[in-house]
Amino acid sequence: MNDAPAMRTANARPSSSLGLRWRIKDTFVGYVLGNAGGRYRLGGGASLLPERYFAFPLISSPDAALPRFTGSVAFLAHGGMLQVAIVNPALSEEDGTTVLTIDAGEEVISIATIDALGAPTSWAGRVPRLTQSGRELFGDAYDVGEPLDPLLSWDTTCAAS
Ligand code: HEM
Repeated sequence: MNDAPAMRTANARPSSSLGLRWRIKDTFVGYVLGNAGGRYRLGGGASLLPERYFAFPLISSPDAALPRFTGSVAFLAHGGMLQVAIVNPALSEEDGTTVLTIDAGEEVISIATIDALGAPTSWAGRVPRLTQSGRELFGDAYDVGEPLDPLLSWDTTCAAS
């Protein structure tokens, strides 16, 4: 196996994939922010990068094929009627399909499917497509299969500038 933690040093970290850089669904974010009082709240280490990308730090191994990220972005609009939170996004395997999960209270729900993954860091650039639970998360405004914005990798050392 090429996963040999004992041989890893601080200098051996890859220069990318240290986090998730994701617009979630930019038309949705634009819709929320276009509403009177519409806003989002960042938590748990999530931050905002330029061009309305949100950054979620990686908490699994840098070369994990199914990475786990931390942080939350909670959207609020329509006087509190719209509450959509993206919390601790992660990739996981479900019935042979790669899925994008988020935490929803005590539960972990699969909001989107991702095309089959190949090489270890190949999650970057993938387009998530809504499952039924994902459709419900967004108030049934989108169809099942609707694409979210692509999952991009975030290199924290580059993002500092
Ligand atoms: C008072 C309640 C609400 C009103 C009056 C309302 C109104 C609207 C309107 C007029 C649009 C079309 C906007 C456009 O095309 O620019 C829209 C889109 C949308 N709404 Fe709502 N909405 C409400 C509640 C909600 C809730 C509770 C959710 C989610 C939980 C939601 C999620 C969405 C989404 C995802 C879109 C599509 C945004 C896009 O990608 O363009 N809405 N809504």
